[in-house]
Amino acid sequence: QLKIAVIGGGSSYTPELIEGFIHRYHELSIRDLFLVDVEEGREKLDIVGALAKRMVEEAGLPIRIHLTMNRKEAIRNADFITTQIRVGLLEARARDERIPLTYKCVGQETTGAGGFAKALRTIPVILDICKEIEELAPKAFLINFTNPAGLVTEAVIKYSNVKSIGLCNLPIGTNMQIAKMTNTDVSNVDIEWVGINHLNWTTKIQVKGKDILEEILNKSPGTEGLNVKNIPDFGWDRDFLRSLGSLPCGYLRYYYMSDKMLNEELDSLETKGTRAEVVMGIEKELFELYKDPVLNHKPKQLEKRGGAYYSLAAVNLITSIYNNKKDIQTVNIENKGILTCLNNDVSVEVNCVIDAEGAHPVQIDKQPEPHIRGLLQVVKAYEELTVEAAFNGDYDIALQALTVHPLVTSVDVAKPILDDILKENRDFLPQF
Ligand code: G6P
Ligand code: MN
Repeated sequence: QLKIAVIGGGSSYTPELIEGFIHRYHELSIRDLFLVDVEEGREKLDIVGALAKRMVEEAGLPIRIHLTMNRKEAIRNADFITTQIRVGLLEARARDERIPLTYKCVGQETTGAGGFAKALRTIPVILDICKEIEELAPKAFLINFTNPAGLVTEAVIKYSNVKSIGLCNLPIGTNMQIAKMTNTDVSNVDIEWVGINHLNWTTKIQVKGKDILEEILNKSPGTEGLNVKNIPDFGWDRDFLRSLGSLPCGYLRYYYMSDKMLNEELDSLETKGTRAEVVMGIEKELFELYKDPVLNHKPKQLEKRGGAYYSLAAVNLITSIYNNKKDIQTVNIENKGILTCLNNDVSVEVNCVIDAEGAHPVQIDKQPEPHIRGLLQVVKAYEELTVEAAFNGDYDIALQALTVHPLVTSVDVAKPILDDILKENRDFLPQF
């Protein structure tokens, strides 16, 4: 009698998740699926919930879909709880992306000062959800997609007893793209990842057991396409890639090509607005489609979002836990010594064996060398400080967090950025 609760069920991504559950029904027979949202999200929940019901009906499956504003009812005795919330909605994301740009710093929803602001708003809410899980469903797994996923996972590790795993679509997306590039099935692709969420490197890419990392790094015309929809795709400098000796994830462009990325953001601010504003447009279009009473599948337009394949990652993970599969997936979990250059209690994003107990990191061949270790350690230091500031509401720690971040150029900008973030988010920051 499998029960799953989706918190933030009114998200425009929900049809993707429903599609995933439908495809896996033979291995994951969900009896009750609770889609939960808050009052402000009721309208979206009703629309997307009705579509979810039509999808399940079209597939002829006996999954019971419940739409509710009652989070505790949804969590009670659930086996899996997924979180895909957006505290402050897209309006808050637009502010996160705009504030740093005012000070000529990268404005991005997960990277740099924007991700910092999102963490401050999100972590207290996730920890409230964790308290309810501890009380009402202590055996449940929390599968978090809410960004910044690495920071959220770390807060859960440090401040709750909930069994939790953080998820991002980049690893699975890279697998899919490598499979496409090399004309093979995704099951033949094995990739080793090192790093933390949205700051990771593939140190090994194998297709049918043959290492093709170097081939990919030297590929002509390039690695364009190995990216997600929300990040401008400038490809990579070939000499740089060779010297790096691994394939960086798309978000590393914000660090390795900061000027170019910043200029691109400033330019598009004039023409299209921030990514949040672009996404608002896509969402409007999506919800118009979702309203159509004859629509009973996931519409193609959802692919314009950066989160492509995230449902596949989620469903793979839940299925493997539920069926004790012991396969390998790349997820966010507690470091516990896997990356020796980081503290044990921080979150990392690495390959794990997935079984009924959860995710267990797979030993890596080689610990990160200085050129990777340096950036990894400094961004993780920023994350540790941010998690602490989000929990305690400590201004001094928050200021240190922002100042140490490589994309916040100096304390002269860190301070006004922090003050603007605190002011513009005051309704969402009870801890400060
Ligand atoms: C990527 C990231 C996700 C993020 C998404 C944003 O896929 O891995 O963590 O949520 O992009 O996409 P959006 O369409 O909202 O800009
Ligand atoms: Mn992600």
